[in-house]
Amino acid sequence: MSVSYSELRRFYDNAQFVTQRIDPNLRLLDILKYAGRQVYLVEHQGRKSVLKFAYSDDPESFQHVAQERKILEILADVQGITHLVRGYNNYHAVLKEWKESSKNRLWTRRDCISLHQTVEQIHQRGIAGLDLCQYGNLILPVNPEPPILVDVGSGKLRKESVEEEFIQSKQKDIIDLESLMQIVDIKTYATPTRS
Ligand SMILES: Nc1ncnc2c1ncn2[C@@H]1O[C@H](COP(=O)(O)OP(=O)(O)O)[C@@H](O)[C@H]1O
Ligand SMILES: [Mg+2]
Repeated sequence: MSVSYSELRRFYDNAQFVTQRIDPNLRLLDILKYAGRQVYLVEHQGRKSVLKFAYSDDPESFQHVAQERKILEILADVQGITHLVRGYNNYHAVLKEWKESSKNRLWTRRDCISLHQTVEQIHQRGIAGLDLCQYGNLILPVNPEPPILVDVGSGKLRKESVEEEFIQSKQKDIIDLESLMQIVDIKTYATPTRS
C-alpha cells in the first residue's frame, strides 16, 4: 500500500500520541504496520521493543492482541519467539522483544529444523494454529540465530478449543512447516508466505 507524505505524517503523529498514552516511558522510533493492528518500534528502558495495539472498535484485532498476550505468558520460556516484555491492562496492547530481521539471509534446512522444534514446543504447551505462512509472522534475524516467530496472536489454546479443531490447527502448522521445507528445497530465497 502506498501512502502520501501527509498521510504518513498523520499516521506518525497518531502513533506518537497513542504510544505516549499507553506508556509515557516509551519513545516511538518507527511504524512497522499501520493497517488494522498498529505495530510500532519503540524504545523501552534503552532497548528496542515492539508495541502492538488494537483500537477498541476493531473486535478482530482486539481479540488478536488479547490472545497474543495470553499465549506469550504461557510461552515465556520457549525459544524461537519474541517474548512478552509487558502487557497493559487499560489498553489492548502488548510490548514485546524486538528482533532485527535480515533482508538478505537465506532460509536453510537447519532453520527449518529449528523452527520445527519451536513449533513442537508450542504444541506441547497446548497451543496451535500459528499461521506460519502468513506474511511477516516469521523473521530470519540478522545474526546467525534460528528463525523467530514474531506473531502468535492467531494461536488457539487446546483448553479453549474443541479437540477436533485443535488437532486440525496442529495439522495445519505441520503442513505449513512442510511447505516451508519444500520452498527451501527449491531454493526460493525470501521468507515463505501464503498471500
Ligand atoms: N517482535 C518483532 N521483532 C521484529 N519485527 C517485528 C516484531 N513484531 C512485529 N514485527 C514486524 O511487524 C510486522 C507486523 O507484525 P505482526 O505481529 O505480524 O502484526 P499483525 O498482528 O498485524 O499480523 C511483522 O511482519 C514484522 O515485520
Ligand atoms: Mg502477523
